[in-house]
Formats: sequence, structure tokens, C-alpha cells
Amino acid sequence: MDFTLTEEHKLIRDAARDFANTELLPGVIERDNKQKFPKELVKKMGDLGFLGLMVDPKYGGSGMDTISYVLVMEELSKIDASASVIVSVNNSLVCYGLEAFASEEQKQKYLTKLATGEFVGAFCLSEPEAGSDATSQRTTAIDKGDHYLLNGTKNWITSGGRADVYLVIAQTDKHKGSHGINAFIVEKGTPGFDIGPKEDKLGIRGSDTHTLQFNDVKVPKENRIGDDGSGFRFAMKTLSGGRIGIAAQALGIAGGAYELALKYSKVRKAFGTEICNHQAIAFKLADMYVDIEAARHLVMKAAWDKDQGNNYDVSSAVAKLFASKVAMEHTVEAVQIHGGNGFVKEYHVERLMRDAKITQIYEGTSEIQKIVISRNLIKE
Ligand code: CAA
Ligand code: FAD
Repeated sequence: MDFTLTEEHKLIRDAARDFANTELLPGVIERDNKQKFPKELVKKMGDLGFLGLMVDPKYGGSGMDTISYVLVMEELSKIDASASVIVSVNNSLVCYGLEAFASEEQKQKYLTKLATGEFVGAFCLSEPEAGSDATSQRTTAIDKGDHYLLNGTKNWITSGGRADVYLVIAQTDKHKGSHGINAFIVEKGTPGFDIGPKEDKLGIRGSDTHTLQFNDVKVPKENRIGDDGSGFRFAMKTLSGGRIGIAAQALGIAGGAYELALKYSKVRKAFGTEICNHQAIAFKLADMYVDIEAARHLVMKAAWDKDQGNNYDVSSAVAKLFASKVAMEHTVEAVQIHGGNGFVKEYHVERLMRDAKITQIYEGTSEIQKIVISRNLIKE
């Protein structure tokens, strides 16, 4: 096993770290307070190639591997998980979904703009009655010859009010179950497509989350992705890669909290010494370090599996399940190490704790990751 990062990996990691510290950090508390979408910063991330990291340069992407992607996700997430979820959805759900499954015409029309950040993408699977139970899609897309007629509601959509292109999963034939589902490209502004109010969230408050309404939306037939009935497989395969991104996000949140806690423990004094000299604090730091290292290995393994062309359904679920647990547990400990200061915004760890929670919920809850893992174990 070779754990060495290449020069290219180090360069992109350092570029992401630098961007996070110089560009994301200064306004992160204000964006969290005001639920402000980082519009200008998204543009800058596009210019740096962060929005199409793994996309082939012939479609305007950076042509990098999944290891590079997780390094970027980790560094951005140490500072601002709201910004990193925009990066994650755009890269691993929207760009990957199109690059792997769309037609050449669709790639030329949409992927080239999404990979450069000219467009922002959204991935629309969840519904009020179909979250974890994603096969129970209620949104319908009825075949009308040269177009589909889309009706229904999607909720919790990341970048929902800001995106230009929406990948929408809908049912075309309910009798066929998961084989009667298709994925469609829907452009913002299509008549009948309405964006509902923004959610007021616990964490990742700088990201933009909306319910979307589709009322007799005409979607041209050429906007269906892949063969008829392939939409559920499209969603599942795409989500397997997306879960690597969210695992890296969780790793970054945990790492950011650990770095802040370590630094604080070396300067804060109690009972005549720096608090890191109290074994109760030192052991917390040791536990954090061990778990973060373990999470990093799982995240890298999932990314490596994807880069090697191995099946990564299980390794991505394992990485997301573990890294999100580590993020939740250790951001709580980071707050504890900060004492009262941990409870106020200027010390950042309370935000990281609030942001950590979502990593156990979106792109499949922890319970869903256990279903994916256990089913595969039993099948083997
Ligand atoms: N790759 C390819 N095909 C797959 C697959 C995969 N990873 N997983 C399942 N399939 C196929 C199955 O083989 C099956 O096909 P066949 O009938 O031909 O065998 C079909 O899909 C249905 O699969 P299941 O019977 O396993 O379906 P299920 O109803 O039991 O559900 C599930 C499976 C894993 C629980 C799935 O519903 C799931 O992943 N739920 C969670 C949904 C989710 O992650 N949502 C995230 C929304 S996006 C988001 O959250 C973005 C964000 O926050 C930023
Ligand atoms: P439910 O499915 O109702 O689950 C409720 C509880 O029951 C959970 O604990 C769940 O684990 C448990 N549960 C359900 N079924 C089982 C079972 N079989 N066994 C054991 N336990 C079970 N979706 C998108 O499509 N696109 C997005 O961009 C997107 N962004 C999001 C951003 C935010 C901030 C949030 C909060 C959500 C986002 N989601 C998005 C939706 C997210 O993927 C869903 O919330 C998630 O999949 C869970 O679905 P649910 O909320 O309907 O919970």
C-alpha cells in the first residue's frame, strides 16, 4: 500500500486550504448567522476548478482523480461546510451524473457549463413522502410523445434557489417500481417550475435549501438521461460517489474542530497549567486524533476504489457512516474542550458541531448506510 500523495495531490490540497483560510474564513460566521449563500465565493471556486474537479478537461473540468476531490472537500469543510456541500453536489452528483450517464449533446450543453462553475447544479431525489424510501417516488413524468409532463414536489434541495440546472428523478411508470423511474435535466425558469421558500436550518446555514414544485412542467424528451427506466440506478450509482464527498466533508468538519481544540488547549490555563496538561483533555485529543485518522483511511479507500474502477458502493457507505459519526462525536468534544467559549460563535466550534449533524442525514442517513452495507455483506 502506498499512502504517499502525489505532487498534484499536495498542490490541490494546499490550494483548497489556502482558499478556505483566506476566502471562506473571513465571512463564515456572518453567512451562517444570516443564512447567506456564498455567491461570489462559488464563482471563485469555479475559477479555481473546484466545481468540476473530476470532469474530463474536454468538458471544461479539472481532470483530477477522486483522491484530489476528497482532499479539496476536506480542506473546505474544515472552515465552511456550507460552501463544501455546494461543491460536493455540483461535483459528485450533478457533474458525475452527467459525465457518466448523459448523451454527448447533453454533456456539451450542460456539463461544460457546470464543470466551470458558469452554472450551478442541483440533484432532486427527495420528496415529502420519499426520503430514505427513494423508490417510492410520487413525482410523475408522463410520456407525451416529444416531451414528458412533470408533476410533483421535491424537498430539501441543496442550491435549490440558486441552481441553473436541476437533475430531477421522477416516476414514469409506477407499475414497474424502481425500473419505472427516470432522471431528467430541468432548466431553471421552465414554466410551471416553482421554487418554494428557503429552509431555516440548524447547520450548513450558508447553503440554500428549498422545496421545489413542478406543475405540468414540459421537459423535452432529449432531456431524459439514459435509457428509459434507468433513473433509479442512475440515482443510486451517483449517490455512491456522492457519499464519498460527504464522508470527506465529515472528515473535514471533524478535523477542523480537532485543530481548533488542540490549539485552544495549549493556551487556555486552568489550575495553574495549560488544559492540555490535564489528562482528561489530553485523552480527548488522542481519541479525536485516532478516530480522524481512521476516518481518513476509510475516505481515501473509498476514493481509491472509485479511481481504480472497483465497486465502491460499500466502501463509500462505510466511509460516510464512520466519518459522520466521528464528526458528530468529536465536534461535541471540541465544544467541551473550549468550555464556555465553545458555546459562542466567534470560536467556530459550535458551528462545526451544528454542521456535523447533517452528514449523518443527507445522501442517505446512517441507518440507510447500514442497510447498504449489510445487504451487500449478506449477498456476498
Ligand atoms: N447501483 C446500481 N443499482 C442499484 C444500486 C447501486 N448502488 N443500489 C440499488 N440498485 C438497484 C437494485 O439492484 C435494484 O435493481 P433490480 O430490481 O434490477 O435488482 C433497484 O436499484 C432497487 O434497489 P433496492 O431493491 O435495493 O431498493 P430499495 O427500495 O430497497 O432502496 C436504498 C434501496 C439503498 C434504501 C435506497 O432507497 C437509498 O439509497 N435510499 C436513500 C436515499 C438517499 O440517499 N437520498 C439522498 C438524496 S440526495 C442528497 O441528500 C444530496 C444532499 O443532501 C447534498
Ligand atoms: P425519513 O426517510 O423519513 O427517515 C426518518 C428516520 O427514519 C431516519 O432516522 C431514517 O434513518 C429512519 N429510517 C427510514 N427508513 C428506515 C429503515 N428502512 N430502517 C431503519 N431506519 C429507517 N435530497 C435531495 O434529493 N437533494 C438534495 O440536494 C438534498 N439536500 C439536503 C440538504 C439538507 C440540509 C437536508 C436536511 C436534506 C437534504 N436532502 C436532499 C434530503 C435528504 O437526503 C433526506 O433528508 C434523507 O435522505 C432522509 O430522508 P427523510 O428526511 O425523508 O427521512
